Amino acid sequence: MEAIILLGGPGAGKGTLADFLKTQKGYLHISTGDMLRAAVKSGSEVGLEAKTCMEAGELVSDALILKIIKNRVAQEPAEAKFMFDGFPRTLEQAEGLHSLFAEIGGTISHVFNLDADRDILIRRLAARRTCRTCGAIYHVINMPPKVEGICDVDGGELYQRPDDSEETILNRLEVYAKQTAPLIGYYRAREIIHDLDAGGSADNTDQQALAIFV
Ligand code: AP5
Repeated sequence: MEAIILLGGPGAGKGTLADFLKTQKGYLHISTGDMLRAAVKSGSEVGLEAKTCMEAGELVSDALILKIIKNRVAQEPAEAKFMFDGFPRTLEQAEGLHSLFAEIGGTISHVFNLDADRDILIRRLAARRTCRTCGAIYHVINMPPKVEGICDVDGGELYQRPDDSEETILNRLEVYAKQTAPLIGYYRAREIIHDLDAGGSADNTDQQALAIFV
């Protein structure tokens, strides 16, 4: 079992890069944010527990996240290649993933650190639109759909995530700086981190990531 990790602040482009690498390299895209949003939508127990934290831009508990990841990983065969997007997000989650992979004989081959200025992140999140049915990501100016408000892929309705309000964006940036950014040093010490300049176009970020696999 092999995995790569996409690390970066809110709006750095983790989901956008994940869509590209899924197609180019065949990784299974595991986004804890998407899994939690699906749980909230279904009204499940996990969703009820996660909803308030997500709306406030706070992190969901490490115990819940590690349980979700263990269950998800267990569903795949030994040769699966995972791409974790938005996980791990705390040192405790990173240690939990490390223990899980030690148990099942998995390897984390690369950690991509998507770096972009705070002002860019704020502008991107305010302009993001997401498809309600397939989750495809758009930007009203940089990557608009062909027809306003409608997904190019499946014709689904595009919506603005509730945690993309200005106040919540600012809190998510703070939470990232305090609780997630320390993972950069954690993975740098393990010599598996690759820094990507994620402040340019999506294509520019995609090509930087692709070059690392060669
Ligand atoms: P999550 O869904 O993971 O949100 P996030 O990390 O804040 O990241 P985003 O999805 O907002 O941004 P992104 O980096 O994927 O950017 P995107 O590609 O969409 O988590 C949401 C919440 O769930 C958390 O706040 C927390 O409560 C909870 N949670 C999730 N995982 C957790 C965990 N492990 N532990 C605890 N809690 C957890 O791009 C953004 C916009 O910019 C788009 O409009 C896109 O079109 C555009 N764009 C992207 N790249 C470019 C580019 N290069 N140039 C121009 N525009 C671009």
